Amino acid sequence: MKLSRYWARTSIRWMDQFVIICSTHYYFACLFFIFIGGYLCIECLSNKSKQGANLVKMLDQILMMNMKIDIETRNTASTGLMKSSTIFASADPPLTLDYYKSTCPTVFEIVRQEMECQVLSNPRNAAFIVRLHFHDCFVQGCDGSVLLDDTISLKGEKKASTNVNSLKGFRIIDRIKNKLESECPGIVSCADILTIAARDAVILVGGPYWDVPVGRKDSKTASYDLARENLPTANEGLLSIISKFLYQGLSVTDMVALAGAHTIGMARCKNFRARIYGDFAATSGKNPLSDLYLSSLKSICPATGSGDNNVTAMDNVTPNLFDNSFYHTLLRGEGLLSSDQEMYSSVFGMETKKLVQIYAEDPVAFFKQFSDSMVKLGNITNLDSFVSGEVRKNCRFPNT
Ligand code: HEM
Repeated sequence: MKLSRYWARTSIRWMDQFVIICSTHYYFACLFFIFIGGYLCIECLSNKSKQGANLVKMLDQILMMNMKIDIETRNTASTGLMKSSTIFASADPPLTLDYYKSTCPTVFEIVRQEMECQVLSNPRNAAFIVRLHFHDCFVQGCDGSVLLDDTISLKGEKKASTNVNSLKGFRIIDRIKNKLESECPGIVSCADILTIAARDAVILVGGPYWDVPVGRKDSKTASYDLARENLPTANEGLLSIISKFLYQGLSVTDMVALAGAHTIGMARCKNFRARIYGDFAATSGKNPLSDLYLSSLKSICPATGSGDNNVTAMDNVTPNLFDNSFYHTLLRGEGLLSSDQEMYSSVFGMETKKLVQIYAEDPVAFFKQFSDSMVKLGNITNLDSFVSGEVRKNCRFPNT
């Protein structure tokens, strides 16, 4: 299973690179290549767009099947029982809504109170926490591994390229943890705190509510390498990003809905420089408003030299509000990150483009899908953490 998953991922990456090279450098050579391919496979060429969509769907299905089988095999091996309706996102010992009902009944209240203070004092704190949760779950599952500090014996994830100088909000989690440790010591895992806090963050900036299943354990380890490998980056191609979501058991729909989190928060110049000096003008078209926006972005983010850490909002219309205006940004061709705009503008984005249009038109559909997908994201678990995990006393260090 692992091998076929590996090949699926590798071939997507190759295709991805091919498209990038075609669109940036060797345009005519690639065209020639495509026409020769088309001559040899007229059938394929005449159904080009359908084939593309089918390819993504097919890979989606293959990968989902592989993962489902993987999980079922794991469950059988660990418990001797085959779960009847195992889907990847269902947790491995299942998470429940009332896990802390008798051991720490005030957990949800305590997290919400602290998040209220933090988001009131700075709405960007909501964005920090939502992203922290995402970066936790994509590396070894949602096990609080992202919260671990580097020590002599442990190389954490904080210094991985996707996280360094970028991930924030750790102190907020520390504060919540301290309160919970005085209220119910040794009971609530850091991974659960982060998951609940992410839900509250979204609500506090105007987004939807969802129930948060709890009962996660904290890992004793972290993975710098997986943080580099699993997390998507701003200049990565669409297919490669899709493959990273599929790998986690999340669908293309989950990906487009979850990327809607970019309706809040900011990005640093180093993550959007290539985009604004690249195809931004082409995707946004010639009009005075987008010209003006592009010039202001260029003044924040010079083409060369300093300014790597200068920031600007990813949704420049309602930056502190969780709404669907991020998708309108993409319809205008003004997505700040290349990875975001690709969901609407990439030649491989037929499926994603439709979803962007749906969420732009229908905020209720977006909220519904975002809530469902956040539950799926939060349910990415790792059997190791359940078996050998713990409830950390301090989210930054494993217990001694
Ligand atoms: C689809 C693939 C994704 C890519 C390529 C991506 C990439 C990025 C990048 C490059 C930034 C800016 C970081 C910086 O400049 O320091 C960012 C910010 C952010 N991302 Fe994503 N992201 C993705 C998906 C997600 C998902 C699934 C979520 C949450 C569910 C999320 C939540 C956020 C938030 C809230 C911010 C703003 C953080 C802040 O204000 O500091 N992203 N993302």
